[in-house]
Amino acid sequence: MIIAIDGPAGSGKSTVSKAVAKRLGILYVDTGAMYRALTLKAIRKGCGFEDEKALIDLSAETEINLQASGDTLKVFLDGEDVGAQIRTAELTNVVRYIARVPGVRSRMAELQRSVCAESDAVLEGRDIGTIVFPNAEFKFYLDADPKERANRRLKDLMATGHKMTLEEVEKAVKIRDKGDMTRQAGPLRCAEDAIVIDTTRLTAEEVAEKVLKTIHEAKKS
Ligand code: CDP
Repeated sequence: MIIAIDGPAGSGKSTVSKAVAKRLGILYVDTGAMYRALTLKAIRKGCGFEDEKALIDLSAETEINLQASGDTLKVFLDGEDVGAQIRTAELTNVVRYIARVPGVRSRMAELQRSVCAESDAVLEGRDIGTIVFPNAEFKFYLDADPKERANRRLKDLMATGHKMTLEEVEKAVKIRDKGDMTRQAGPLRCAEDAIVIDTTRLTAEEVAEKVLKTIHEAKKS
């Protein structure tokens, strides 16, 4: 069973996906963490973001592993735990240059499919229900008011010691949304058969309950 959860930044995907995977006792795959890890490697190696060939080659020779550890997900880049380094605001602002390269996306999609080859999983991302698993049993698209999404992102950033204003976060989220929605390869899109949940006025627990209820009801019938 594959559960695809897509949506823009701050729509609540991570918290909800983690909670749903935990309740069902299945794998949780944060595909954004994979793009983030590859971005970190590209920065370290000094790869130019315009050099598509170098980025594709880099993705082919990179090993990315996700490992559940209690309530957190550990992200290993070529064996190194890079969990904290891939969440900085600076890195977040440049992931889109890597994520727009078609050859990189196909390599990532391949990795994501292989991770789930032998296990049920909840995958969160931008193109899971449309491209990576178009036949997923369950597809959800989470969205929320842009101001609320920026507020949530600001809280996440403050919790990790970043100092930004709401205005700065709002601007960064807007730029990222635009990049994610308008790229040619794997754009952020709601799959036609996805269930849309507006999370603006819901807690993450309420959204997770809605998702779980949908799954349980479908399984009963
Ligand atoms: O958690 P948040 O929604 O802020 O970001 P993320 O899921 O960690 O994704 C970071 C970036 O990676 C996104 O803005 C996309 O540019 C890219 N991404 C993607 O292109 N495709 C995915 N399946 C997941 C992430």
